[in-house]
Amino acid sequence: METDAEQIRSEFESELLRTANSQALKDLRNRYLSRKNGRLSLALRGLSKLPAAKRPHAGQALNQARQRIETLLAERQQDLETHESSQQQSGDPLDLTLPGRRLLIGQAHPLTQVRHQVESVFRELGYRIETGPEIETDFHNFEALNMPEGHPARDLQDTFFTEGGYLLRTHTSPVQVRTMMSRKPPIRMVAIGRVFRRDSDISHSPMFHQVEGLAVDERVTFADLKGTIAAFCQRVFSPDTKIRLRPSYFPFVEPGAEFDISCALCSGSGCPTCKRSGWIEMGGAGMVHPAVFRAVGYDPGTVSGFAFGLGIDRIAMLKLGINDIRLLFENDLRFLRQFPQ
Ligand code: PHE
Repeated sequence: METDAEQIRSEFESELLRTANSQALKDLRNRYLSRKNGRLSLALRGLSKLPAAKRPHAGQALNQARQRIETLLAERQQDLETHESSQQQSGDPLDLTLPGRRLLIGQAHPLTQVRHQVESVFRELGYRIETGPEIETDFHNFEALNMPEGHPARDLQDTFFTEGGYLLRTHTSPVQVRTMMSRKPPIRMVAIGRVFRRDSDISHSPMFHQVEGLAVDERVTFADLKGTIAAFCQRVFSPDTKIRLRPSYFPFVEPGAEFDISCALCSGSGCPTCKRSGWIEMGGAGMVHPAVFRAVGYDPGTVSGFAFGLGIDRIAMLKLGINDIRLLFENDLRFLRQFPQ
């Protein structure tokens, strides 16, 4: 019986080393100490079969083994508890074989990408990027641009007015006025930014983006205007893009024109995007009206200039192949992710 106690204890100890968690420890305790059929209880019950003289000694050995087992169980229990709680705090154990988590890096909105491209094309052509306020005065948005109060051309613009006599600029042309009033010719500038009109459908948004160019110097001609528009469109779209000008009216230019580019999708042969005409309307242009020069303090007798303006959103729609302007402003990531930089 004495060797029994010794054997039970040593077997217990080696099993104890292999317990990995509290549950395994509980099972181990049951197997050795459970009253009904634990190894130790069975051994104690077996004492009655021993000769009376041997019983006290064997009983003592078994009781010592029991004490030892209880102590070891308590110690191990503590160790496991500390280990398990620190594991909970630091999350799951580190698995070095798991694939890494991909970092999502942001990207510029497709409109911003187009805007950057337009800016760099103009810088290449020697233009300076100018900015101006989005909340404008009547003077800068209309009056200085040859649209005095009561001028019928104001009806062309569905203007948002603010309190206190201001308005949300309806085009980027007021930036030309501000630039000319603060600098002397020669001037080569572009203004890019948000503009606002009360209009909303598949091809109009109450907020959209324009880019506008202005060149003022002595002897600037209509041919310069045409060459500049062509150079710009060929760089932004493709080198074989053709342009055409049609006579049109804008109060701040004379003569005025609208310009089209050959359809980038069908290269001019006719498709649904260009309504089978082979041409796509891009923007307005013309020679700066003498009344505009007078309003900003320039002498129309010594300087001349051209101006042209077009929609950045339109450029983006053509380049990205989308037909609903609203997609650009909904900020749906499923849409935006289709246009990585
Ligand atoms: N500012 C005009 C518009 O918004 C566009 C334009 C600019 C036309 C310059 C002619 C010259 O409609």
